[in-house]
Amino acid sequence: MNANQTTQKRMTDAHLWPLTTLVDERGRLIIGGCDVAELARQYGTPLYLFDEATIRDACRAWRTALATHYQAETAVHYASKAWLNTALARLIADEGLGLDIVSGGELYVALRAGFPPQRMHMHGNAKTRAELEQTLTAGIGQIIVDNLDELELLAHLTAHRFPPQAVALRLAPDIATDTHAHIQTGHAASKFGLPLDALDAAAERLCASPGLRLTGLHAHLGSQLFDLNPYAAEIDVLLDSAARLRDRYGLIIQEINAGGGMGVAYTADQHPLDAHACAARLGAALADGCRQRGFPLLRLVIEPGRSIIARAGVALYTIIATKTLPQMRFLHIDGGMGDNIRPALYGARYTAVLAEQADAPAEEIAAIAGRYCESGDVLIHAASLPRARAGDVLAVPVAGAYTLSMASTYNLTPRPAVVMVNVGSAHLMQRRETYDDLIARDI
Ligand code: LLP
Repeated sequence: MNANQTTQKRMTDAHLWPLTTLVDERGRLIIGGCDVAELARQYGTPLYLFDEATIRDACRAWRTALATHYQAETAVHYASKAWLNTALARLIADEGLGLDIVSGGELYVALRAGFPPQRMHMHGNAKTRAELEQTLTAGIGQIIVDNLDELELLAHLTAHRFPPQAVALRLAPDIATDTHAHIQTGHAASKFGLPLDALDAAAERLCASPGLRLTGLHAHLGSQLFDLNPYAAEIDVLLDSAARLRDRYGLIIQEINAGGGMGVAYTADQHPLDAHACAARLGAALADGCRQRGFPLLRLVIEPGRSIIARAGVALYTIIATKTLPQMRFLHIDGGMGDNIRPALYGARYTAVLAEQADAPAEEIAAIAGRYCESGDVLIHAASLPRARAGDVLAVPVAGAYTLSMASTYNLTPRPAVVMVNVGSAHLMQRRETYDDLIARDI
């Protein structure tokens, strides 16, 4: 499995691939010191691989950037919705991040992995009573309240609780962002967060709720963002709200959570949002804003998902068949919308290489067609590749976020196996789903 280090070179478009990615002298793709096509044959396809070094590097980059650019306490909570399993939760804990969870299921996995509950916060615009009870029992660090009904229920559930449960309010700051409509969340008509005109009602309820302690304000503008101006505007809205809570109700918060959404590159023409530029802008906006409003420097929290995990993940498929039509050529792969629904759902764009000819010049433009029974299941509409044949292994970079976590068993097709690679060895993180798994719930 260990690849020869001597004549390896970097990929073109290296910024789309895990940090450890190389091409060996035979043109084979090497990630984490492992020959990718060999992994595909050993574990079967579709296979998702994660490069441990790239995940750890992203965790450290965001933590370091915040600590460098803001002179008070900072924290990075990984948004588990991008993807979570037991091994990943342990790695995230080991890197000192907190965890942003959004369901009883994410909480269950994180607790089972031994993730410290105090370092988690719980989101959700429709948390059920059972989920809130589960969260309170777990002793979670903070519950981020989305709406007045949730606040009412939480106040009731915690009426006799001591010490009180820390909560934050998620606000809808009425800030537009330049991203796909499905993943915008900060606009006034968003289903997420408390409308600003409901802030007073929330404050009154909080003042009358001895089991709850307001510790922070939160907003999340959207996902896959590249412009920093909306983040600065968001911090202003949150601080204005914090000042109102202090001046009218004597409610003093300790932290501002600016959400996630930091964009990553999926195609060669894109560039990721730079962690240092982002942290500098957020840090300056918060520091200036705190000073202007007479606050001490509040704790700064962010909750990135995609920018922690996307680049570390590579999806591997086998080309099952090819089909040449007068209009186009199709490469039919053994995965598709079941493991990555993003192209079908958002028109997301990806690139691909052949894992055994990773630096060969392009000879054709082909559509990468998924195996699922609908015409919308085209993973890549126009991939530039060397002439591909059935049996070739196709590698798709930037596949770590919102792929496996949104995967389905459509057509009753088992979900992929997942391996972690690091310095020449590979470990199964999640086994492939089996046919028995598919019937496990049937009665
Ligand atoms: N915080 C909150 C409250 C969120 O709703 C999200 C993502 C995040 C943090 C993390 O955002 P990130 O840093 O990953 O952009 N399925 C879509 C993305 C949905 C994002 C949902 N919320 C996609 O595949 O593009």
